[in-house]
Amino acid sequence: MVVWAVTHHDTLQELLADPRVGKNPQLWTTFREGRLPEGWPLTTFVTVPGMITADGEDHRRLRGLVTQAFTPRRTAALQPAIEARATALLDRMAGLQGPFDLREHYAYPLPMQVIGELLGLPPKQQDELHELSDTLVSSSATPEAAVAAQRALFALLASVVAAKRAEPGDDLTTDLIAAREDDDRLSESELVGTLLLMLVAGHETTLNLITNAVRALLAHPDQLRLVLDGAVPWSAAVEETLRYDSPVGQFPLRYAVEDIPVGGAVIRRGEALLASYAAAGRDGAHVPDADRFDVTRQPNRHLSFGHGPHFCLGSGLARLEAETALRLLFERHPALALADGPAPEPIGSFVSNSVRTLRVT
Ligand code: HEM
Repeated sequence: MVVWAVTHHDTLQELLADPRVGKNPQLWTTFREGRLPEGWPLTTFVTVPGMITADGEDHRRLRGLVTQAFTPRRTAALQPAIEARATALLDRMAGLQGPFDLREHYAYPLPMQVIGELLGLPPKQQDELHELSDTLVSSSATPEAAVAAQRALFALLASVVAAKRAEPGDDLTTDLIAAREDDDRLSESELVGTLLLMLVAGHETTLNLITNAVRALLAHPDQLRLVLDGAVPWSAAVEETLRYDSPVGQFPLRYAVEDIPVGGAVIRRGEALLASYAAAGRDGAHVPDADRFDVTRQPNRHLSFGHGPHFCLGSGLARLEAETALRLLFERHPALALADGPAPEPIGSFVSNSVRTLRVT
């Protein structure tokens, strides 16, 4: 199997918007010929029925069903709820003794609660959903674990759909059920697939963004000072984190619809491409001094929310959550510091890019 990692900013930007590149797995020779091994860890990514595996008209239909949930107005209206949730988490953290894991106690629950409310997920099942979703994005799970997580996640989300059918709510799941039942715009598997996508995309990434931003700011006190003194806004720290330490390391997969010459090479029809967002953010040919964390960069153009027809639907929400989380955290704890000890371990995924824990004092 040949997979091309597209790591240069300009090449990636071009290919993400190139009609000769598609996302339907039927375009992939390895998949079409049934050569994908059973339990391959990224199977869900490439087969989940929904907008990330669709092209053209199909993609527009599936994406259109959820775009209304993320208009700038609907997103901005979530600000008070995000602030209230972040404040409640900070209150709870105040009771913790000694160094603690900021990822577990703050960066994870905030986006999970927000997407949970948007989708109408039962709060009691959110931790379980998160664990299953972690296995899905881990890219190093055993075949058995990957298959089991995929099945359990589909089953759990199908039960959420059944519950919402019985008792509709004011949430995206109820809206999607209406689109399925009233005018048949969505199949049952697309309905569950879309929920799965929204759940994973809506929290794993923002969790990484908040973790990576706090880590970078604490490791670069001069940059944190610039924000705390009001010389640059929190939004600039968020954009620089997106570029410097992209929450999505690499996104699988895209496929060449025809032979595509790139630089000196040719991506052959039917071969797969990996969008290497983290590498593109550090491309020295696009950003001067790319390995330096610098919150004053202007302009700060990165591809970390994607580009072209699959550009992230939740970028406004992610930015709002991250800015709010950072502002409230550092207002409450201006002397926050990284705890002593060995450097944190990466999470062991080439899709999801962050550290397993972020111990702070
Ligand atoms: C797509 C990044 C947060 C929903 C994408 C893509 C990237 C991305 C890189 C393009 C994937 C590709 O095709 O190559 C991020 C980052 C986030 C974030 C870095 C947070 C820091 C969110 C949130 C939501 C969301 C909060 C929803 C609540 C989606 C959806 C797509 C997507 C639905 C698929 C769009 C399509 O295929 O048309 N995101 N995302 N994302 N994102 Fe996000």
